[in-house]
Amino acid sequence: MLVLAALAYAVMPLVDKLTFQWFVRDLDLRSQLVANTIEQPLQSLAEARDTVGIRRFFTRITQDERLFAMGFCDKMGRRPIATPTLPKQIDCYGLDDYAAPTGELLREEKGSLLVSVIPLVPLGDTLGRTVLVHDMSFVDRRTKETKRYVFYFFVGLSALVSLITVVVAQLSWRGWVHGIRSLMRGEGLLRPAQQSEGELQPIADDLRALIRDLDTEHRMRDEERLAWSPEALREILDRELRGQDIIVVSNREPYIHVRKNGEIVIQRPASGLVTAIEPIMRACSGVWIAHGSGSADREVVDRKDHLAVPIDDPSYQLRRIWLSPSEEKGYYYGFANEGLWPLCHIAHVRPTFRSSDWRQYERVNRHFAAAVIEEAKSADPIVLVQDYHFALVPRLVRERLPDATIIAFWHIPWPNPEAFAICPWRHELLDGLLGSSILGFHTQFHCNNFVDTVDRQLEARVDRETFTVTYKAQATGVKRYPISVDWPPDEKMTATPVEQCRAMIRERHQLPPDHAIGVGVDRMDYTKGLEERFRAVERMLELHPEWIGKFTFVQIAAPTRASIEQYHNYELRVRAMAESINERFADGKHPAIVLAVKHHEPHEVYQYYRGADLCFVSSLHDGMNLVAKEFVVSRDDDRGVLLLSQFTGAARELPEALIVNPYDADQCAGALNVALTMPIRVQRARMRLMRSLVQEFNVYRWAGRMLLDAATLRRRGKILLRVPVTKWAHLSDATAATPPTAPSESVP
Ligand code: F6P
Repeated sequence: MLVLAALAYAVMPLVDKLTFQWFVRDLDLRSQLVANTIEQPLQSLAEARDTVGIRRFFTRITQDERLFAMGFCDKMGRRPIATPTLPKQIDCYGLDDYAAPTGELLREEKGSLLVSVIPLVPLGDTLGRTVLVHDMSFVDRRTKETKRYVFYFFVGLSALVSLITVVVAQLSWRGWVHGIRSLMRGEGLLRPAQQSEGELQPIADDLRALIRDLDTEHRMRDEERLAWSPEALREILDRELRGQDIIVVSNREPYIHVRKNGEIVIQRPASGLVTAIEPIMRACSGVWIAHGSGSADREVVDRKDHLAVPIDDPSYQLRRIWLSPSEEKGYYYGFANEGLWPLCHIAHVRPTFRSSDWRQYERVNRHFAAAVIEEAKSADPIVLVQDYHFALVPRLVRERLPDATIIAFWHIPWPNPEAFAICPWRHELLDGLLGSSILGFHTQFHCNNFVDTVDRQLEARVDRETFTVTYKAQATGVKRYPISVDWPPDEKMTATPVEQCRAMIRERHQLPPDHAIGVGVDRMDYTKGLEERFRAVERMLELHPEWIGKFTFVQIAAPTRASIEQYHNYELRVRAMAESINERFADGKHPAIVLAVKHHEPHEVYQYYRGADLCFVSSLHDGMNLVAKEFVVSRDDDRGVLLLSQFTGAARELPEALIVNPYDADQCAGALNVALTMPIRVQRARMRLMRSLVQEFNVYRWAGRMLLDAATLRRRGKILLRVPVTKWAHLSDATAATPPTAPSESVP
């Protein structure tokens, strides 16, 4: 438009001049014509010296609107015989000034006048000269009009040209973008003959490299994030996942309302899962769907079974699901805890599978999946499915919400393929889990076991390089995300100073102020290795009798799954063992073991962590074990020693603990003695290292990494939707053909 405007500006004077010249030439010709036409009558009048006749004759002729004035100068005359309109300055002597072939212009107030002088020469004898004056004001008017038209013409032209430019640019841009996208998706490789591919191929590799670099940079920025915090998590949700609400599904609820002595009290369950998910929900809000298992749970929910929690500072919704006694028996006690729990833990307890339990498990999974659909506010919510209670939920949700981002996390170990194969419903469980976008485990070992199991049991494509399983035309990233705890811990947990905690717990158990205390905090579960732990204490007192009466091991054991026979028997055995050890070392004034089988609130548990000299985690098999990490977090005095079973996921992250084999009583006894005699300087060095690790690899990182990977999958999934998964199989270019995968978490 600018170019055309400049052109118009430059052209305008030229157009002016040209049109003016045309008009002058036309009027000259006209003057000549008029002069020729009147030659005969004018000659007669001139020869008759009829001045009045000439003037009348001229006046008649000048009725023509263009002919402004006429005059005649005879050979002698000074003053022209003329119409009254003839300008004063024209007299017969000065006619030569106007005698040029194209006439001359007179500038008058009303406008320009063209003066033409034409000799009257009948038969070769000059009688005089005729003066014709044409009014040129119409030329000005026409020039103005022409200018206006030219202006409009250029405006129209420039608009048209701009429009065409925009349309062409738009079409080429679309074509270009389409071409680039096709190349990025690898379609170019499928249709090599396409012209656009030929044009774009040279930059395709550069673009891919650029995208990879950006992705890496992005990822590194998140990796380098020093402080993973609630804010960081919220930022990821806002930035990567459009601020979507989160829906969590778990069996155990974070707050249980129970009636005690007629009063409703709130209990916090002893659950690693709850410990990890609760801070995430506080940070991200959303809905947590869980089984309402408390005796007063129904009394405090609204009509839609919702309750805003935490009660003192509500930040998310708890949606309670009610189960009938038979559902709870079959799904929770039966299939989940008599079947899957022993199947996945190598604790030498046989799993029991009953078809009636399986039916309840299926039914309850459907029940929870329906609740997810109900709670979803969009077609693509973020759903975090927790643990072995809900293996079928990912597939059930996927069927109803195909665009959902479903992250399933298996909090317990995954057994090897041979062990898993004994489950009669193995295919259904695998199919259900493979409905998720991401399936997380605590350790790489469990990821490997899962992928091996799928390979053995299903017709699925397993990519061991990217750890992705593609099944039913949908990819699931199988990734390691070591779970962790809140950092820094809730202020209320560490409000009581360590010295005070030491004094309080010793007083509580009537122990002297300098008495050495070891602590264990677990559910009363056979996987936790409580018998092995007590055996180690017993062996330590045998090997180091100087500790008899000077050391007490306090075991906090939360009652759990008591209606299952194996758990009931286990508790009896553990109680009996504690009694027998105490009897054996009864000569010491103080008991060797204190066994507290009851529910303890988190702040009470923290008092024990902070007041003890050591913490002993002796699980026979454990996905992660958050007690170990909680103990580390609680010790802001950098003191205390952690004894940690080598069969926990936590042992891979906390090598500064004293790593033990719980089956080896002598080794554990030796470690107990080492812990009790460890110099403060060494305790500090070890504890600081462990604390810095837990600080960095806290629970926000655990959730953040999963959400980031889910966001990446979500982005890539949208691209993948346009290219059927089957096409990937034919591609040879690994870069273009890689289905969406989540990058693996860096190993601490
Ligand atoms: O270890 C997996 C886990 O879900 C823990 O998070 C939790 O402590 C336990 O199993 C379940 O306990 P419960 O059956 O009492 O909810």
